[in-house]
Amino acid sequence: MIYLDNAATSFPKPEPVYLALDAFARTSLANPGRAGHKMALAAERILDDSRHRLNQLLNGESPERFVFTLNCTDALNMAFKGVLVDGDHVITTDLEHNSVSRPLRALELAGRITVTRIPADGEGTIDPDAIRRAIVPRTRLIAMTHASNVLGTVQPIAEVGAIARTSDVILLVDAAQTVGLLPIDVRAMGIDLLAFPGHKALYGPTGTGALYVGSRIQVRAWREGGTGGDSASETQPTEFPYFLEGGTPNVLGVAGLNAGLVWIGERGMDKIHHHELDLVQALWTALDDLPGLRVLGHRDLSRRVATVSFVSEAISAAELGGILDQSFEIAVRPGLHCAPYIHRACGSFPEGAVRVSPGPFNTREDIDCLASALREIVSL
Ligand SMILES: Cc1ncc(COP(=O)(O)O)c(C=O)c1O
Repeated sequence: MIYLDNAATSFPKPEPVYLALDAFARTSLANPGRAGHKMALAAERILDDSRHRLNQLLNGESPERFVFTLNCTDALNMAFKGVLVDGDHVITTDLEHNSVSRPLRALELAGRITVTRIPADGEGTIDPDAIRRAIVPRTRLIAMTHASNVLGTVQPIAEVGAIARTSDVILLVDAAQTVGLLPIDVRAMGIDLLAFPGHKALYGPTGTGALYVGSRIQVRAWREGGTGGDSASETQPTEFPYFLEGGTPNVLGVAGLNAGLVWIGERGMDKIHHHELDLVQALWTALDDLPGLRVLGHRDLSRRVATVSFVSEAISAAELGGILDQSFEIAVRPGLHCAPYIHRACGSFPEGAVRVSPGPFNTREDIDCLASALREIVSL
């Protein structure tokens, strides 16, 4: 199988991730605890280690501000449910994944918040000035993605961060498509809350993710329970990260994530990103030669990640994806990609598009195979 669906989850993982998962599961898979036996301490150590690496990668205020979650959706929900109160106004965009749009829409339909959705320009970028203009006295939160999971377009987060700071509004960034690929400096970019998965470009297994919580803001705990310490306390200990981390964490998953973080450091984030962009450039060249295909979003490589979506005049996205899978053993992602608003804006709703997202282990040959399969399909 040629796997080109890394925007959904990365595959394969780097070899050290598999080795770390196996070794950890065999020797250290205890319930972490701050006052426990040697194995519990080893499990706690892997959580600490990973928090330190994340803090370094993202320039957080301290490792404890990184709270492990199940995935990016879990982190986003933790942020929404922990921050918003009745009567709040939220600014978001039409680039968002349903893991941002749906929790906000549910609160809006319940009459608890109001929401302004900023449209992207024709090429898939949000204008920070449009966000500035949408701020009203009740605006508590700006919630937006760092890069579109459909178009791959990177958003001007630092500019939005500066606007959020001057207006005393909280900025929540969904970094699902950029963490591990693009430099993110939460402090320099004015990001208060950063939600991200561990299973995409951080190369951990599924079931991993994290929420960074800056100290400027207050978040309510929404998953209360055991924390491996402070057992005498009747309520959730207020100390981070335990305040938001009730229950046994996915310590095995985090052991894999930790190995992914080490691998990124060794390989170099910039090198990974540029390798993927080279494959995108080759894909564009091939797509331009095929009749009746329309690529969505802008083509400025300096403002994008390696996610390319296209539609065909002749054949539906679902059918195209199905043929690539069944007849050519090529895994791409057809459909709406959990992002219906941007497909509406691009005129690709409700059929959706075919999304191709190469990862660090894809090669030029993979792209050539895809191009020749597409040539065969569209000429039928
Ligand atoms: C932009 C964006 N946000 C959020 C998510 C949700 O991530 P997860 O599946 O880890 O919950 C995705 C997943 O593809 C995404 O692309």
